[in-house]
Amino acid sequence: MDAIEAMETCIAMRYLKEDPLPQDVLERLIYAATRASSAGNSQGWEFVVLTDGPIKEKVGAHVREAMAPVFENKPQGLDASQTKMYDGAQYLAENFAKVPAWIFGCGRKAYPPQDPQEVFMYASVYPAAQNLIVAARSMGIGTAFTTFHMMAEPLIRELIGIPEDVQLCVSIAAGYPERQFKKVNRRPVKDVMHLNRW
Ligand SMILES: Cc1cc2nc3c(=O)[nH]c(=O)nc-3n(C[C@H](O)[C@H](O)[C@H](O)COP(=O)(O)O)c2cc1C
Repeated sequence: MDAIEAMETCIAMRYLKEDPLPQDVLERLIYAATRASSAGNSQGWEFVVLTDGPIKEKVGAHVREAMAPVFENKPQGLDASQTKMYDGAQYLAENFAKVPAWIFGCGRKAYPPQDPQEVFMYASVYPAAQNLIVAARSMGIGTAFTTFHMMAEPLIRELIGIPEDVQLCVSIAAGYPERQFKKVNRRPVKDVMHLNRW
């Protein structure tokens, strides 16, 4: 599969099989992530791969509870694709512990060295995360970008022992897909590309 095909079918796969991902596959995903560009090649990223059942249960219970009001009070008038997104996100939150691997993309402020800025940390961890999800797709693995860590950050930090100067930037669910990959629905190039002038 070429890179474009992987990107154009790299949907948020929130329905995942419970089968574990082998260690070499997980390492391959982190390898792909860490081939990304970063500010000044600072590479201020680290990844916690969470596969431990009891920890996933604890974090999952917390995420489920914290997210419940979000789903109970979902906005009115959602279209079919937004409804699908909410339903999928709810399913993922409620089945947090069943996801084979949660990959937490973490960052340290590392660039520029004389005055490290938060923006460069996120601007380095997210390209790595995008690399990871596209690589996963090419390997037949489903992923979903989330910010679920924001719902349980103190607990995650405590259970996993994340150092104080390390930020949690993204939580990616990964596993073999329960549903079919399909083409992503995105704005057409003609609506977003400006050639030479806005
Ligand atoms: C920064 C960021 C945060 C996201 N947070 C969540 C989230 O918390 N829960 C979730 O289910 N999906 C989350 N997503 C996935 C998007 O909702 C999803 O990519 C978008 O709806 C388009 O769907 P598609 O990728 O399947 O085409 C996030 C994506 C990004 C880039």
